[in-house]
Amino acid sequence: MSKLPGNAGVTVLGDKSVEFYRDPVSFYGQRMDRHRGRVFLSRILNRPTVFVCSVRGARELLCEKSNIFQKDPTDLMTNMYGDTIVTTNGEEASLLRLSFSSLFTGNSLESTKGYVTRICEQHLKDLSSRGQCSYSVYKSLGTQLVLGLFLNVNPDEQPELYQEISCLCTQHWHGLISAPVNVKVPMWSSGFSTALEAREKLMAIIKDKLQNDKHGLVGTLGSLPLPDSSSASQHLLLFISALIPKALASLLTSFTLALSGNQQVETRRKAQTDADYLGFVLLEVQRLWPPFIGGRRIASQDCTIAGFHVPKDYGAVYISHAVHRDPEVFEDPDSFRPERWGERNAGQQHLLCSFGNGPRSCIGVKLTDAFLKEACMYLLQHYDWCVDPSTQALQYKWLPVSRPANSPTISFSRLDENPPGHSGS
Ligand code: HEM
Repeated sequence: MSKLPGNAGVTVLGDKSVEFYRDPVSFYGQRMDRHRGRVFLSRILNRPTVFVCSVRGARELLCEKSNIFQKDPTDLMTNMYGDTIVTTNGEEASLLRLSFSSLFTGNSLESTKGYVTRICEQHLKDLSSRGQCSYSVYKSLGTQLVLGLFLNVNPDEQPELYQEISCLCTQHWHGLISAPVNVKVPMWSSGFSTALEAREKLMAIIKDKLQNDKHGLVGTLGSLPLPDSSSASQHLLLFISALIPKALASLLTSFTLALSGNQQVETRRKAQTDADYLGFVLLEVQRLWPPFIGGRRIASQDCTIAGFHVPKDYGAVYISHAVHRDPEVFEDPDSFRPERWGERNAGQQHLLCSFGNGPRSCIGVKLTDAFLKEACMYLLQHYDWCVDPSTQALQYKWLPVSRPANSPTISFSRLDENPPGHSGS
């Protein structure tokens, strides 16, 4: 058992949260170089924290030693969303997962298909009439997905309510991201208090829906066996949060950029006609541009990660961006090569962690997959596209979700109006 490279510095003064949140990719890159390894020690959220950047380390953290590395019940998510599955542990978490699994699989999942198809068409059918800021279009599509599926509210039938809920979700979200870098005075900022007000208003709308709306997912949720009376509303708040539309928009934006221009015309045609290949493209998109930078746990006892000693109460963070570029598993890790998923990495999608991994992986992964395939297939069947102007800066930022720092503009041209392959760049 070896000592972790790096150091945790002293309380508060040695904290690196600000540096980490400002640019997480440079943060881990510099330290991996300095310590010549993919697992190292630093201090964030004022706690000594192991950074895990290797496939092997992430598998241990999330799968093999998931009973030791626990969710943090005092996490910021608890302040914003209340007690939800995200921050509970043990039997309670298992029971919640069991209850919710019926919402995201089988008949419930099947029943969402028609709605998903309809809103994808509605949002994506007119892309060629405007120069598109794709991230915003995709985020509003994602918002319509969650508000329609989880609350039965959509902009055609109830425009004012829809608008009100969307704004409240955004305010609530801004509070969530305003707090974590504030190490000395945690949990306080003006954005945070606005967020708490937004939460109260959202909760009132949600409770009303749970009481009076008996159809769709909100109806099913109201009848699930849950630990207490506030559980259904807290979880609805989580499911409609701005977090999910942002993550969906992140993946759709990265897909659009990766497949843009004449140089990718063959990739687009192949993805349109070969469902397996579209699957490979989407795996490669989430490998290189995972929407969330990673996740955090706390060690409940002394243990090891990748052979390094981790004392009890240390934090542990997996960095998906780094895990997905581990050269031990992914040859030429920075290149976009969908083919790798049919070759050397065939059957290895369980090594990715864009949706977490192990017993606490994302419960919305099937819904997300169905939605992404529908939206991407619509784009592939109807458009060629390119980044326009081609000179715009496309550098990514990684928080709160991964996307180009300046929202990219894309030109879409309809396939039925243009000769194939003429996407303009
Ligand atoms: C692009 C879309 C999405 C991404 C990238 C994503 C990503 C993730 C990740 C990384 C985790 C694990 C966090 C950790 O290890 O600490 C997670 C957990 C979770 N996700 Fe998702 N998610 C997405 C969509 C959804 C959707 C659509 C839902 C449901 C409406 C959902 C509900 C959840 C829940 C409830 C958990 C917590 C599970 C647990 O702690 O046992 N997610 N998600």
